[in-house]
Amino acid sequence: MGGSDGEVLVTGGRGTLGRFVVQHLEAAGVPVRLLSRRSPPADGESGARWVTGDLTDPAAVRGAVHGVGAVVHCASNFLKYKQDLVAARVLAEAAAAAGRPHVVYVSIVGVDRIPLGYYAVKRDVETLLLQSGLPVTIQRATQFHELFLRATGLLRRLPVVPVPAGFRFQPIAADEVAARLVALVSAEPRGRVDDIGGPEVHRGEDLVKACLGALGARRPVVPLPVPGRTAAAYRAGHNLAPGHAFGSTTFAEFLRSTRAGG
Ligand SMILES: NC(=O)c1ccc[n+]([C@@H]2O[C@H](COP(=O)([O-])OP(=O)(O)OC[C@H]3O[C@@H](n4cnc5c(N)ncnc54)[C@H](OP(=O)(O)O)[C@@H]3O)[C@@H](O)[C@H]2O)c1
Repeated sequence: MGGSDGEVLVTGGRGTLGRFVVQHLEAAGVPVRLLSRRSPPADGESGARWVTGDLTDPAAVRGAVHGVGAVVHCASNFLKYKQDLVAARVLAEAAAAAGRPHVVYVSIVGVDRIPLGYYAVKRDVETLLLQSGLPVTIQRATQFHELFLRATGLLRRLPVVPVPAGFRFQPIAADEVAARLVALVSAEPRGRVDDIGGPEVHRGEDLVKACLGALGARRPVVPLPVPGRTAAAYRAGHNLAPGHAFGSTTFAEFLRSTRAGG
């Protein structure tokens, strides 16, 4: 892995994406170290070596990175997103002092073109890693299928579900993004690679309607015009990766498999 046979550290290894990264690495026979702020579950659902720690804690991160051959950095705190830059700095410093493992970072398509605070921090993390002198690969991906189902789940009890008018998305299965990250971490560092997105582009309202159907919630979906530069950037399609469809799992297939899996 990245020129070393050591373990691969997966930050955020219990998150939506990180779980799949751990699964793909384990399926490939790669020893995994998983960093989470939580304690390991009693059922020990994977064979990963568990490290409990916070990425903003330099001592914890030094321990987590020590001896690893590579890092797949999936951790992110959307609600306290400014922390992500602190975490990246701590991770980069620990990695620089620990044999300079290959760091693969997952970012989001359009972080440089859509004016959102969370995106600005993700772009700053990209820059920090690229300028760190570490061997780095940065993969931007479009929104995960899972995100729409979760967001619709939160809105399903409203009498009417509002969606921003004119937004389109190119959702991708987190499982397929994870497979891509595992392929990247197994190869030489490449800096920023081409963006990836899912196999189809959909209107936001169609994704929400499909999710409501899968959740068994009958609610009208109402597209609302949203003012401002951020909404304009979405309407311009800066969140899309045209010509870079990577995943093959369609949104409908994802919903069917999620329903089948309960
Ligand atoms: N969701 C999308 O549609 C999408 C699309 C493109 C790219 N991305 C990017 O993909 C990455 C993963 O997204 P996701 O949806 O899988 O996120 P997620 O489900 O929220 O998982 C992120 C994980 O990060 C961990 N974390 C947060 N703050 C931490 C800290 N200070 N120290 C240690 N761990 C911390 C949390 O793990 P614990 O609670 O276990 O500590 C959490 O489970 C993010 O960088 C995101 O920006 C997401």
